[in-house]
Amino acid sequence: MINPPETFETERLRLRKPVLADAEVIFQQYAQDTEVTKYLTWLPNGKIEDTREFVRTCLTTWQQGDSYHWVIVRKEDGLLLGMITARVDGHKWELGYVLARAYWGRGYMTEAVKSLIAWALEQPSVYRVWSVCDLDNPASARVMEKAGMLREAVLRRWSVHPNIGPEPRDSYCYSITK
Ligand SMILES: CC(C)(COP(=O)(O)OP(=O)(O)OC[C@H]1O[C@@H](n2cnc3c(N)ncnc32)[C@H](O)[C@@H]1OP(=O)(O)O)[C@@H](O)C(=O)NCCC(=O)NCCS
Repeated sequence: MINPPETFETERLRLRKPVLADAEVIFQQYAQDTEVTKYLTWLPNGKIEDTREFVRTCLTTWQQGDSYHWVIVRKEDGLLLGMITARVDGHKWELGYVLARAYWGRGYMTEAVKSLIAWALEQPSVYRVWSVCDLDNPASARVMEKAGMLREAVLRRWSVHPNIGPEPRDSYCYSITK
């Protein structure tokens, strides 16, 4: 089982394993925001207990080695800006990420994604890092492109984004391999 670092440092960011106390900030910063969750697979959190439950799940899946979540903290002021996730499936790592709206467009997520890709592909057992995004989510597609991933497909009817509707939607699939 891969045992990834609990902390990554980039130029401007620290990615670290969440603690339960992060739930309050995650809730305030982005988990209730319908703009942020628009193209995600989950509905905005209605109450803080939803976010706490989510953070508990993050800690459990980390322990099980199924997926790893890191909160994204800005080093300059210690502010929690978002989260990045790697779901492990053998030699494949699937990334997911989210950032509070006030911090979009400053290159933060590209910086976080690049650091995780670099570490993952250094691991002998990891050959593929991939992710998907809704066709109508160009900011996410651009992050993947800037991080060196290649668009390899449109996965039709791939993902339900319940904030838009109940029907599965088409997704771009991006990957980087070694
Ligand atoms: C997607 C997301 C993580 C991007 O984070 P970010 O830190 O703003 O990303 P970056 O600043 O590193 O890069 C964003 C890029 O998208 C571009 N972009 C943003 N909105 C765009 C739009 N509507 N059309 C085209 N490009 C767009 C930006 O210009 C930038 O590219 P550039 O550097 O070439 O100018 C953030 O918008 C977010 O959290 N969205 C909600 C959650 C989400 O959709 N997560 C991904 C699910 S697949």
